[in-house]
Amino acid sequence: MAVCANSQDITGLEKIGPVVSFTKSVNAVTLNCADGSQVKLTMLAPDLIRVRASFAKPMSPHDHSWAIARDNWDTTRWRLTESPESISITTEEVEVVIHRSPLLISFRDARTREVINADERPMMYDAKGTLAGMMFDPNAGMFVAAAKKLGFDEHFYGLGEKAARLDKRRGSFVNWNSDTPGYTEGKDPIYQTIPFYLGLEHGSAYGIFFDNSYRSYFNFGSNSQERAWFGAEGGEMNYYFFYGPAIKKILSRYADLTGHMPLPPLWALGNQQSRWGYYPDTMVERVVSEYRQRDLPLDVVHLDIDYMNGYRVFTWNTQRFPRPKEMSEQLIKQGVKVITIVDPGVKYQPHSPVAREQASNSRNPELEPQPKSYYVFDQGLEKNYFQHRKDAKLFIPKVWPGESVFVDYTLPEARTWWGDLHRAYLDNGVAGIWNDMNEPSDFVDQTGKNQLDVISYDEGERSSHAKNRNVFALLMARATYEGLARLRPNLRPYVITRAAYAGIQRYSTMWTGDTNSTWDSLALNIPMFTTLGLSGEPFIGSDVGGFMGRGNGELLVRSYQVSFLAPFCRNHKVIDAYDQEPWRFGKYYEDIIRKYLKLRYRLLPFLYTTLEEAHRTGVPLFRPLVLNYQNDASTYNLDDEFMIGDDLLVAPVLRPDVTRRMVYLPEGKWYDYWTNKEHKGGSVVSVDAPLETVPMFVRGGSILPLGPEMNYVGEKIPEPSFVIYPDEQGEAATSLYEDDGLTPEYANGVYRRTSLRFSGKQKQIQISISAPEGKFRPQPRTISFVISTTLSPGTVLLDRQPIPRVADGGTGWFKSGGTLIIRIPDDGRAHNIEIQ
Ligand code: GLC
Repeated sequence: MAVCANSQDITGLEKIGPVVSFTKSVNAVTLNCADGSQVKLTMLAPDLIRVRASFAKPMSPHDHSWAIARDNWDTTRWRLTESPESISITTEEVEVVIHRSPLLISFRDARTREVINADERPMMYDAKGTLAGMMFDPNAGMFVAAAKKLGFDEHFYGLGEKAARLDKRRGSFVNWNSDTPGYTEGKDPIYQTIPFYLGLEHGSAYGIFFDNSYRSYFNFGSNSQERAWFGAEGGEMNYYFFYGPAIKKILSRYADLTGHMPLPPLWALGNQQSRWGYYPDTMVERVVSEYRQRDLPLDVVHLDIDYMNGYRVFTWNTQRFPRPKEMSEQLIKQGVKVITIVDPGVKYQPHSPVAREQASNSRNPELEPQPKSYYVFDQGLEKNYFQHRKDAKLFIPKVWPGESVFVDYTLPEARTWWGDLHRAYLDNGVAGIWNDMNEPSDFVDQTGKNQLDVISYDEGERSSHAKNRNVFALLMARATYEGLARLRPNLRPYVITRAAYAGIQRYSTMWTGDTNSTWDSLALNIPMFTTLGLSGEPFIGSDVGGFMGRGNGELLVRSYQVSFLAPFCRNHKVIDAYDQEPWRFGKYYEDIIRKYLKLRYRLLPFLYTTLEEAHRTGVPLFRPLVLNYQNDASTYNLDDEFMIGDDLLVAPVLRPDVTRRMVYLPEGKWYDYWTNKEHKGGSVVSVDAPLETVPMFVRGGSILPLGPEMNYVGEKIPEPSFVIYPDEQGEAATSLYEDDGLTPEYANGVYRRTSLRFSGKQKQIQISISAPEGKFRPQPRTISFVISTTLSPGTVLLDRQPIPRVADGGTGWFKSGGTLIIRIPDDGRAHNIEIQ
């Protein structure tokens, strides 16, 4: 194993000097240290403090981060007090105590004065180059680090995409975006860098976002009982401290700081099918028609690199796809949208001037043969948008097209140009873009060593790869998202990415790259999805069935039993492994998969409502139990259960030949989704889990909004039916979010939120429906309420007027077995239903 700074002892590094004086501004305090260092503490919000340090020199006026979405914070009230030993800054929620000598910062709860997080030693820098020999890039800059006291019972979550368990305590991690096909648990780093983590001790949480894009290190007590630390091979000591104590509150603040996920089109929640090797167009059509004939829902089909002309991005292989626009239109008629892959590698194709003249005359260069001249390379070269090495030579990595070039996405004009190139897809009916290989992957050398002398414009700083690698994908996704938004302003962009940096949620959804078709890889899905959710990335998923190697029917079914509830649900396969569309292992497995895909579409109103919550609040849809029950220590390292929103708990089977499993249910009342059997929470129950069944529980107190079964989003009017699961007091509540699912108009208030309350005390049942909020008007429809009850009602009153008992259609009420169903027209007004 390569030596790296992570395995090093940071205790030998130079410590920042003691405080000798300080200055105050409206929202910040700057500490001046004896060694010429400066530390600036900025109070952005009562629960958000930024700590920025310069070592042995004054703070640079240059202050820029690609991750930060917001810099206009309201003025926060704070006061400063001092004593000979310390300086205290107190907001309404946090007290920051700065011990002057040595300089130690601790954060306390302003109300209870309890310490939340404290420096174990002063912030550090590698003044003497002690770690230089251990650094991946010895020329990156100076190693900087901060060490925090490690709590005896402290748990750690976050860091984005890591092939690791949920609780990161005792782990150590590196961030350096890397193409790691076939990764297994423990492989680190992998594709993404999200240097944000949560600490949780005694039910109280804080967050730290170390906004530094250099190769960074996080150590949560892997070789020390005293400290957790983080550091980077260059850049500034620059972190944001968030105080909860609720994790949900921290995630909301993190979203305020780094950006809220915009809503993707609703169809992005639909089922998606992909495979490396779907060509020619007739094969794509065949896949879609198999889906339809087999009564399997499908919204999206992906085209992998095979659609391109010689792997040239923004071109089509017209032998394989002679009429891409007509193909897309045909598929749209069946409710299926096309997504194309776009890699950063632009084929390196120097040309003769004559050839270029010919190509640039075409209105649709993407459909031209390009043998002598490739329009994307020509334009990028002419405009000087490609990356160069330090010696001014073009940087020529090798990717799918062979020798290639990469765009310098730190150049604003290059981002605009790249975004506009997507016309080549939109004009041909493509609905969304899949960004891959954007670590950026280089076959010459996958570690990034071959790129170390590549320079990026970086706001005029002309900085090196060490700083820019980890933000490359963020900026590529940004160029793509902004391009789609410009080219089609009336439609929500949909982008998928493999690599990322913090802030990616503003532009793109993600998937977890090249997994294996193995049980171990499947088991990683849950901690990886939940961790991504705790790291500000709510829209996530993994190749269903696993990407590499041969799967089987049982594995595929169990994989769908996790992913049918993931925001991104896409079956995808590598070119050289056995096929794994839902029907490939026979009818028995296909029938089970159909059941789950259909259930996903029934659950869409619930999933979309929860996704909108993620958009608005930053709290993800796919959750670890600890997010909903952070005072319950039994949830702190649960890797094999998850929740969707607040209401649905799922405990999949993650091993072969298993048909029963133990499930932890937190406090409260729970209903088995399949049988309605009630369970008392706060205990572990043993439940049946034959291949047909994924153990699934609904929280007592919730109301699940369901929709009709559909083959694709928009096929039917989404008539909601509310299924009621009362708590111990007989009460339940929910809200349903809806909008047009396609345009950005939701941001202008064109949405509808309907709130619902149920109370079923004694024999008096009541349902109240609020007047909906927002300007969105759904098509005329009915809404239903489904109540499990032994009661046979005499009358059902809608706003005090009896409604008819009906057979089982139309509006009115009827009983079917132990279920009472009430159906009323949806007139967009408040209503009260009483059952007597
Ligand atoms: C990468 C992607 C994978 C894709 C392949 C070919 O390995 O992660 O999803 O199929 O490239 O484009």
